[in-house]
Amino acid sequence: MAEYVIAPSILSADFAKLGEECDKVLAAGANFIHFDVMDNHYVPNLTIGPLVCKALREHGITAPIDVHLMVSPVDRIVGDFAKAGATYITFHPEASEHIDRTLQLIQAEGCKAGLVFNPATPLSYLDHVIDRIDMILLMSVNPGFGGQSFIPSALNKLKQTQAIIKASGREIRLEIDGGVKVDNIAEIAAAGADTFVSGSGIFSKGQESDPNRYDSIIRQMREELAKAGR
Ligand code: DX5
Ligand code: ZN
Repeated sequence: MAEYVIAPSILSADFAKLGEECDKVLAAGANFIHFDVMDNHYVPNLTIGPLVCKALREHGITAPIDVHLMVSPVDRIVGDFAKAGATYITFHPEASEHIDRTLQLIQAEGCKAGLVFNPATPLSYLDHVIDRIDMILLMSVNPGFGGQSFIPSALNKLKQTQAIIKASGREIRLEIDGGVKVDNIAEIAAAGADTFVSGSGIFSKGQESDPNRYDSIIRQMREELAKAGR
């Protein structure tokens, strides 16, 4: 089984100090940088694009950058993110006219590809493309904003997805995104997730004066994950 990956979502970071914020969470033991791309069309919010991804690479970030596209259409922006240094590119199947083509495009650009499932999106989108998938991202909130509460039905969906991954015999990361905190991460891991996005759970507001806050939160998450037994 894949080792646990903690992927802070920079959506909740201080955008005026983005490079520094990434440095700090990575130094505190995070593994990936989760990069939320919103277009004010597929989701009702607008965030960051390839130029910011490129700027983080130029700043010196070498950790995997996990680009979560909440955009429609998808294909046109894929090459830009590949050139900007994305490691993973995931997209919502409802946002692509041709899912298999988009997956192929991402991999042809040299990136790892994945599908993202909203809380009400059926897993059947995996049926004919599992051989092309490197990551499955389950949303445990509706996409568009940080700071929402974890939707409990995601736990069951994680178990179902884990069974699909097992049956495929492939190495596929199972990522969860939305409302992940120190106090629920163990339960989420027990349900099958191996990759944990956390935005507001890591970049908590109101504790900026504590220079070690990221170390302490990520250490607590690892302690909780140890309870889940991997
Ligand atoms: C929501 C984004 C998430 C978001 C998670 O559409 O995909 O990555 O940043 O934020 P929290 O962890 O605060 O729920
Ligand atoms: Zn995300």
